[in-house]
Amino acid sequence: MKFSTTLSTSILLLTTLSKFTFAAPAAAEPVHTSASTIASSIPDPENDASDDYLVVLADDDKRPWDEVFAEMGYNQTTFSANSVDDDGNSDIKTFGTNMRAFTIKMKESGYASVSAMPNVKYMERNIIEPWPSIPADLAPLTPVRPVKRSLWSKLNFRKRDEEQPQAQVVIQQGTAPWGLQRISSTTPVDPAGRTAEDLSYKYRFDKTGGSGVDVYVLDSGVDVKFAEFGGRAKNLFSAFGNNTDFTDEIGHGTFAAGVVTSLHFGVAKNANIWGVKIGDSKGPSLIGWWQGLDAVLAAHNQRKSQPGFKGSIATMSLGLKNGSYSEALADLFGQASKAGIHMTLAALNHNEDSCQRFPQMLTKTLPLLTVGATNISDTRARFSNYGPCVNIYAPGESIISTSAQSPTGAMVQHGTSFACPMVAGQIADELVKNPELRLDTEGMKKLILSKAQKCAIKKDPNPQVGEILLLNNGFLGTPS
Ligand SMILES: *[C@@H]1O[C@H](CO)[C@@H](O)[C@H](O)[C@H]1NC(C)=O
Ligand SMILES: *[C@@H]1O[C@H](CO)[C@@H](O)[C@H](O)[C@H]1NC(C)=O
Ligand SMILES: *[C@@H]1O[C@H](CO)[C@@H](O)[C@H](O)[C@H]1NC(C)=O
Ligand SMILES: *[C@@H]1O[C@H](CO)[C@@H](O)[C@H](O)[C@H]1NC(C)=O
Repeated sequence: MKFSTTLSTSILLLTTLSKFTFAAPAAAEPVHTSASTIASSIPDPENDASDDYLVVLADDDKRPWDEVFAEMGYNQTTFSANSVDDDGNSDIKTFGTNMRAFTIKMKESGYASVSAMPNVKYMERNIIEPWPSIPADLAPLTPVRPVKRSLWSKLNFRKRDEEQPQAQVVIQQGTAPWGLQRISSTTPVDPAGRTAEDLSYKYRFDKTGGSGVDVYVLDSGVDVKFAEFGGRAKNLFSAFGNNTDFTDEIGHGTFAAGVVTSLHFGVAKNANIWGVKIGDSKGPSLIGWWQGLDAVLAAHNQRKSQPGFKGSIATMSLGLKNGSYSEALADLFGQASKAGIHMTLAALNHNEDSCQRFPQMLTKTLPLLTVGATNISDTRARFSNYGPCVNIYAPGESIISTSAQSPTGAMVQHGTSFACPMVAGQIADELVKNPELRLDTEGMKKLILSKAQKCAIKKDPNPQVGEILLLNNGFLGTPS
C-alpha cells in the first residue's frame, strides 16, 4: 500500500491514546497544575452541550502524545466507556502531518480553559454543513435526472492532425457533453437544435491529458469501481468508520470525480483519482475536511519524491456554513499550497458574493482557484456565486457525469460543484505539459487564468462581477 506510513502512524497513535480518559475536562480530576485551569470552568448542567472539537497543537510542541494529554489533566486509569462514541469509535483521535491535532468530544464548558492552554494553537467546534445545493428559486429549468445508457454508450474518439504545437497527439471526442466542447473552443456552443443534455458535442484534448497526475477529491466519497475510471481511482482516506467507510451515499463525489477524469465525461481522461471522504449524507464536517486535507498533504509529501510523480491537485466542491471561518483549516490550506498542492474550490450556489464564504475567500491570499458556473448560453448560471473571489468560471449547468447509483450510470446535474472539477481536470492536463509547474501553485494559477477566455461570458447584470474569465484548454476556434 502506497500510503502505509501515514496510515500506520495514525493507527499507532490511536492505540496509544486509548489508554487515556477523555471525559469532559470540567469533570476530570486534575493531575497536574495546568489541569486545575480546566477544572475551574463551571459547567451549566442544563445547557452544557457535548460536541466534537478539533484541537491543533502549537508548532513547537513536539512531545509524545501521552505527555501532552497527561499535562492536560487526563487520567489514564479512569478510561471509561465514555471514551467510545455511538459509532464505536474512540472519542479521541490524533493525527497531523505538518501540524499535530486531535479531536475530542467534550462539554462546551471545557472550551475556554483548553483553548487557553499554551500548547494549543487552535481549538474549534466541529461544524457540519449540508452538501451544496441550489436554492429552489435559482434552480435551472432542467431537472437532475439519470441519463439513459443507450445515449452515451458509443465512445467516438478520433485522432486529429492539428494545431497545438505542444501536444503529441490530439484526440477529438464526438460524444461529449456541451461543457467539454465549451472549454476546448474559443466560440460559444451552437446547440443547433440539440439540448444541453445531448451527448454529441465535440471535445478536443491531448491524448495524454492528466496522465499520472494525482487528483484528490475531497467530497462525499468516490465510487472507485466505476467502469469509467478504468482502475485509475482509489480511496485514500475516510473520516468515517475508522477510515474504512468509503461509500458515496449521495453521489456528489463520484459525479465530481467523473467530471475530472471519466472516459466519456471527464476533462483529463488519464488522471488518477484519490477519494477522500469528508462527509456522509448529512454533509461535510470541519473536522473531516481538516483530517482529509491533512491526509492529502501526507500523501503528497510522500509521493512527491517518488518516481512517476506528476503533481497533486485537491478539488473541493464545498464550503462551510455562511459566516463561518476556521483558522485551523485556513492554516492547513496555506501549508498544502506551500507544499505544492494545487487546489480548486467551488464558488457555491447562492447567487451572492463568494468573498463572504470560507474557504472561498482564501483565494485573496493563496493561489487557489475558486470556480463559478456558466450555462450553455455563456451566461453566469443563476445560482453561481460571483465577485472578486471567483477566479474563473466553467460550465456548471446541465452537466453530465458518473452516477453513484450504478457503476455504469450517468446523470445530469447542476452546480458550481461540477464547474470546479473541470478546472481541476484542466490543471491535471497542464501538469503533464508543464512539468516545471508541478509544485508551483502560483505559476499554475497564472497559467490557467492566462489561457482562460476573456469577455466570453455575457455581460452580467451584477455590477460586482468585473472581468470574468471562462476556462479554456488552449484549442482555438470551433471543433469541426
Ligand atoms: C486516576 O483516577 C483513579 C480513579 O479515580 C484514582 O484512583 C487515581 O489516583 C487517579 N490518578 C491520578 C494520577 O490522579
Ligand atoms: C481502527 O482501525 C485500526 C486499523 O484497522 C484498528 O487497529 C483499530 O483497532 C480500529 N479502532 C477502532 C476504534 O475500531
Ligand atoms: C450569508 O451571509 C451574508 C452576510 O451576513 C448575507 O448577506 C447573505 O444573505 C447570507 N446568505 C445566505 C444564502 O444565507
Ligand atoms: C442561461 O442563464 C441565463 C441567465 O439565467 C438565462 O437567461 C438563459 O436562458 C440560460 N440558458 C439556458 C440555455 O438555460
